[in-house]
Amino acid sequence: MGAKGQIIITGVSSGIGLAIAKLALETGFSVQGIGRNEPKELTSNPYWFFTTADLSQENEVEDIPFKLAADPLPTVLINNAGTLGAMGQAKTIDWNDTNECMTLNVTAPMRLTARFMSLSQESKQVFFTGSGAAEYPINGWSSYCASKAAIHMYAEVLAQENPSVPIHAFTPGKVDTPMQAQIRAASKEDFPGVEHFREEYADGLLVKPEAVAKAVLHVVQNPGEQPVVFPTSQITTV
Ligand SMILES: NC(=O)c1ccc[n+]([C@@H]2O[C@H](COP(=O)([O-])OP(=O)(O)OC[C@H]3O[C@@H](n4cnc5c(N)ncnc54)[C@H](OP(=O)(O)O)[C@@H]3O)[C@@H](O)[C@H]2O)c1
Repeated sequence: MGAKGQIIITGVSSGIGLAIAKLALETGFSVQGIGRNEPKELTSNPYWFFTTADLSQENEVEDIPFKLAADPLPTVLINNAGTLGAMGQAKTIDWNDTNECMTLNVTAPMRLTARFMSLSQESKQVFFTGSGAAEYPINGWSSYCASKAAIHMYAEVLAQENPSVPIHAFTPGKVDTPMQAQIRAASKEDFPGVEHFREEYADGLLVKPEAVAKAVLHVVQNPGEQPVVFPTSQITTV
C-alpha cells in the first residue's frame, strides 16, 4: 500500500480519471483503477492495480473485488466513470439510452459506494464526479442533467447518514477530455447550445484534467474543508 493511503477510482482510461490516478500515484497513494480499458502508461507502477469491469453491467459491478489493505491510512473511493448519454430532445430518448446513462452515472456508483461503505477500513472517504449540469437545465441533455442531479443528492444523503466520513460530489467545470469532444460533435438539433461549447474550446477556456486532479487530491488530504458538493475551481491552494 502507498505511504499516503489507497484510492479506488473508476473510469481511468482517459480524462479526469486518468489524471487523478496518475497524480495519486505520484503523490504516494496506491491506486486500484476500475473500468473497461486499462491505461497502458500505468501498468508498470508497482502501486497500480487494475480491475476490468463494464460498470453498466449489474453482475460486473457487484463482483468487483476491492484490493485494499487493512490500514488506518485514508481509503478513498472516487466514482468517476460516466457518460453523457444520448443528446436530443427528451421526447426522443428511448428506454435503452435512458437506462445506459442512469445505470452508469447513478446505479453503479450507488452500488459500488454501498459495498465500499460496508468495508471495515477505518478512514474512508467517498467522492463522486458530479457536474454543474446537476444544478442548471441544459436543453438536449435531459438524461445527463437528471443523472448528475441524482448523484449529487445521493452524496448529500450519504453524508447525512455518515457524518464522520468525508463524502463529496465535485463539479469540475468544462474539462478538456474526450467527453467534451463528444459534446462539440453534437448537431445543433440535438444540442442547441453546441456553438458556445465550440467557441469556448477554440478560445482555450477549458479546464485541464490535471487541475481537477490537483484539487481533488488536495481535498482528499485536507478533509473537512469543503461542503458536500463543491466546485474544484474553489480550491485555490493548489
Ligand atoms: N469533461 C467535462 O467537462 C466534465 C464536466 C463535468 C463532469 N464530468 C464528469 O467527469 C467524469 C469523467 O469524464 P471525462 O470528462 O474525464 O470523460 P472521459 O475521458 O470520456 O472519461 C469517461 C471515463 O468513463 C469510463 N467509462 C465509460 N463507460 C464505462 C463503462 N460502461 N464501464 C466502465 N467505465 C466506463 C471511460 O472508460 P472506457 O470508455 O475506456 O471504458 C472513461 O475512462 C464523468 O463522470 C463526467 O460526467 C466531465
